[in-house]
Amino acid sequence: MNGLPDFPWDRLASYKERALAHPGGIVDLSIGTPVDPVPEVAREALTGAADSPGYPLTYGTERLRRAAAGWLARRHGVTVAPEAVLPTIGTKELVAWLPTLLGAGPGDRVVHPALAYPTYDVGARLAGATPYAADGLLGLGPERVPLVWVNSPSNPTGRVLPPEHLRKVVDWAREHGAVVASDECYIELGWEENPVSVLHPEVSGGSHEGLLAVHSMSKRSNLAGYRAGFVTGDPALVARLLEVRKHAGMIVPAPVQAAMAAVLDDDAHAAVQRERYAARRALLRPALEKAGWRIDHSTAGLYLWASDGRPCWDQARALADLGILVAPGDFYGPGGGSHIRLAMTASDERINAAVLRLQ
Ligand SMILES: Cc1ncc(COP(=O)(O)O)c(C=O)c1O
Repeated sequence: MNGLPDFPWDRLASYKERALAHPGGIVDLSIGTPVDPVPEVAREALTGAADSPGYPLTYGTERLRRAAAGWLARRHGVTVAPEAVLPTIGTKELVAWLPTLLGAGPGDRVVHPALAYPTYDVGARLAGATPYAADGLLGLGPERVPLVWVNSPSNPTGRVLPPEHLRKVVDWAREHGAVVASDECYIELGWEENPVSVLHPEVSGGSHEGLLAVHSMSKRSNLAGYRAGFVTGDPALVARLLEVRKHAGMIVPAPVQAAMAAVLDDDAHAAVQRERYAARRALLRPALEKAGWRIDHSTAGLYLWASDGRPCWDQARALADLGILVAPGDFYGPGGGSHIRLAMTASDERINAAVLRLQ
């Protein structure tokens, strides 16, 4: 009716029932939702800002913008002015609304990776534009393209785009007047490769013109429940987004802004969380391989992208019979039809249970 796809997770319901019926309980590796505690540093800042009766600024506090810029410089070799940082209510809302905020509309094609987080497609549709799933840009010809999404490390594949690849996308986009939006929500989870930001000088050539980087606190700091993210990059683009977001009331609550600033200033909790994911990955990956699955890409990020050669729904069923719920690869595009995605977002106890069942 509204031109939007069916919500994919609804199709998994009967598999979930199967997994729930396992005598040892379900191991849910389907939706990548954080399960570890919210770090103390975030809780303290949140409660410290609980008395926030006035309207917060859409632009965020200066403290938050400085913390975001500081984190990017410290951790990712990226220099942005704090004025070019704009908080978002988690990043899913920005992904869903960016084409609209940038003025894309009917007749425009919004490019996103062939295997991708479904919200890029949804965002194009919400704007009345046409989603275009492609990893290469050459098929587009000379048309004007308002927006190209990249996502490294990728959801679902865990693939990292090297700086040279990102650079080619940036060069193409600059020649065609397109904005490049880089969804970098897994940038801190490099395992076998180091993900690089689109704003890094090696990629951007030192200018952020036409570039936006999107960052989420959901996975780094277990703040999915707070809805915390930001976008930064080209100051002119950020100013345009701010203008519309002010009118539209897209405002991050003040206590969440305080929590975001606190976690962005702190690397210790993020290192602890990273170690948790590394340990789970080190158990799950070999267990899957021994059970007959091949792991593709997955050099970074929160997921294992696995295949035993069968159609994805058959693989999902086989694992549901073991009480393990996974995401079928075709949720992320037709090219995912023979893969499954396993999220490392289950407790150590549940990951151990999965490993034992795979033996
Ligand atoms: C690639 C990608 N982008 C964006 C998001 C949205 O994250 P959040 O809204 O929690 O910031 C996710 C969530 O899983 C994701 O996988």
